[in-house]
Amino acid sequence: MKTIVVLGAGQIGKTTAALINHTLFRILAFGDNAVSGHIYNIPIFSVEKALRLRPDIVVIAVRDTVRTKELKQQIQNLGFVGQIVSLSDFIDVMDMRSAVLFRAAERICNVEGSIAELGVYKGAFAAMLNELFPDRKLYLFDTFSGFDDRDIRTEAECGFSQADMHDFSDTNAAEVWERLPHKDNAKIFQGYFPSTCKNIQDVFALVSLDADLYEPTLAALEWFLPRMAAGGILIIHDWDSNRFKGIRKAVADYEKKHGRLALVPLGDFHGTAIVVKE
Ligand SMILES: C[S@@+](CC[C@H](N)C(=O)[O-])C[C@H]1O[C@@H](n2cnc3c(N)ncnc32)[C@H](O)[C@@H]1O
Repeated sequence: MKTIVVLGAGQIGKTTAALINHTLFRILAFGDNAVSGHIYNIPIFSVEKALRLRPDIVVIAVRDTVRTKELKQQIQNLGFVGQIVSLSDFIDVMDMRSAVLFRAAERICNVEGSIAELGVYKGAFAAMLNELFPDRKLYLFDTFSGFDDRDIRTEAECGFSQADMHDFSDTNAAEVWERLPHKDNAKIFQGYFPSTCKNIQDVFALVSLDADLYEPTLAALEWFLPRMAAGGILIIHDWDSNRFKGIRKAVADYEKKHGRLALVPLGDFHGTAIVVKE
């Protein structure tokens, strides 16, 4: 069995380790100079110590191409002559989250209801939703001016993230509207969620939650889940995020109050989870 060292023990490294074909390869260790401990019972060593295990393959599990080049140089300087696989070559090209969305679209063809997204930003995912479901109503919720002060205060107080007022503020509703291929069925609700959903009465078949922060995510779980049709699919972006820890906490707090959700982590690089409405 060939052996692997995964360089990078952050969110990308953790996802990479799970994605590796464990019937053909054995991961000896993570190499990371900034953290220690274990992931999935696999030890995290310094890069140098991990390379001393003499792996057949080193997988560079970072998104940034410049950092990838630096790490490649570093391990070659340390004398590594085996195979090097760089995740950054395909991490933005291949997207398991999109793959799941395409399959989910087929799966929910018999589930009645509209489509919605909370956290639209420039509309990349929203345009995909609109393209995949041309005949369904699409509800899009965002401030279109970035995070709200009230939500950021919770993030700071609870140590969930370092979210800033200016993050994601470089967008506007008109720009998003322009990129939607089937505008007739779409409606944009600009402003603070949950204030913007107050007067809506509908049933949802697929909902995408991508607000990054604890408060709007918890509010969205409370609002959308009772309005989803049985068999409907809820996509929770960043559920396993190192950067936005409030998402997982919002789900945990929702479950504490309402009971366990049928949640499955996708294992993609975004840390997405999906919930099937029972
Ligand atoms: C990561 S971005 C969304 C990315 C988007 N789904 C895409 O496809 O690129 C997060 C968005 O959530 C929005 N957001 C966060 N909290 C919000 C709230 N309480 N109400 C409305 N929008 C919110 C932000 O304005 C930001 O545009």
